Amino acid sequence: MNEMSEELAGILDLPKIELHTHYEGAAPPAFIRGLAQEKNVDISKVFNADGSYAFKDFVHFLSVYEAATTVLKSPEDFKRLGLAILEEAASNGVIYMESFISPDFCGGGDVDAWRDYLAAMEEAATEAERDFGITSRGIVTCIRHFGPEQAKTAALCAAETAGGFITGFGMGGDENQGNQRDFAYSYDMAREAGLKLTTHAGEWRGPQEVRDAVNDLRVERIGHGVRAAEDAALVDELAEKGVVLEVCPGSNVVLGVYPDWKSHPIDVLRRAGVKVTVSTDDPPFFHTNMRNEYLNLANTFGWDAEVFTEIAKASANAAFCDEDTRTQILKKLEA
Ligand code: ADE
Ligand code: ZN
Repeated sequence: MNEMSEELAGILDLPKIELHTHYEGAAPPAFIRGLAQEKNVDISKVFNADGSYAFKDFVHFLSVYEAATTVLKSPEDFKRLGLAILEEAASNGVIYMESFISPDFCGGGDVDAWRDYLAAMEEAATEAERDFGITSRGIVTCIRHFGPEQAKTAALCAAETAGGFITGFGMGGDENQGNQRDFAYSYDMAREAGLKLTTHAGEWRGPQEVRDAVNDLRVERIGHGVRAAEDAALVDELAEKGVVLEVCPGSNVVLGVYPDWKSHPIDVLRRAGVKVTVSTDDPPFFHTNMRNEYLNLANTFGWDAEVFTEIAKASANAAFCDEDTRTQILKKLEA
């Protein structure tokens, strides 16, 4: 094996900021298997023979994801999961992380139950900050294929617990179901509660979906957004408006949005002046972590420490946190 260059080793060790991860999607398979055993739940179909998550395409991924999530049954489970996620991220040099958390998987949209789950996740965040030096925040997330009515219960949970740890509202799930504007009521509720907004768009559907996200939901960040690259006028508009893309290249390659790293548009978007950031989405599902994303970006596009530092700063500036926290993380990036 070639010895890694000193420059590349330095890049992998840079402090990192991650704005797009799904709490349940960051659960290591061994963690989920352990809980399934404890609770006597049969979720064998979730795993390959080698113990990794088994899925053949995006829709199958979503169903396996939801099956794995069924073993997360209590606030305590979410606290343990949070500690595991944050320890792993910190070991990859992540100093600040935002995670999507779904009331649908934490009490089914009931506000009182949600408060209990949220308290447990906040405990994990506080302990992880103390023990692993990683700061984190939560983005309450509705699930698109559960529909607009269900999304309102997530938005209500978000609005009722906005402030402090909960800084944003978002939407994940199957982008091929319904339209962004179907969720405008929920986004209005979240905005009025003072939350910052993001939505998955332009991962599966084309540029129009990204336009809809900006115009119909008035988000300031877009989850993925990569297919905007197919429309030059939209790319210019995103650059001009300063809309931030939460790009997850490894996720896109594993799920087949792009056939390989070379074909991924992150560098084209960046060169066109779009604010791109880098995240892992659901790291164990996609056999990735932030060091691996950095490694592939450096090897594929020749990004040097200067580019990665610029991206980390853009990420800090796009973080859904209070200004004191932003100042602190920017200071850590400079150190
Ligand atoms: N939920 C978890 N990962 C997702 C992804 N990549 N796209 C949409 N919803 C998701
Ligand atoms: Zn995502």
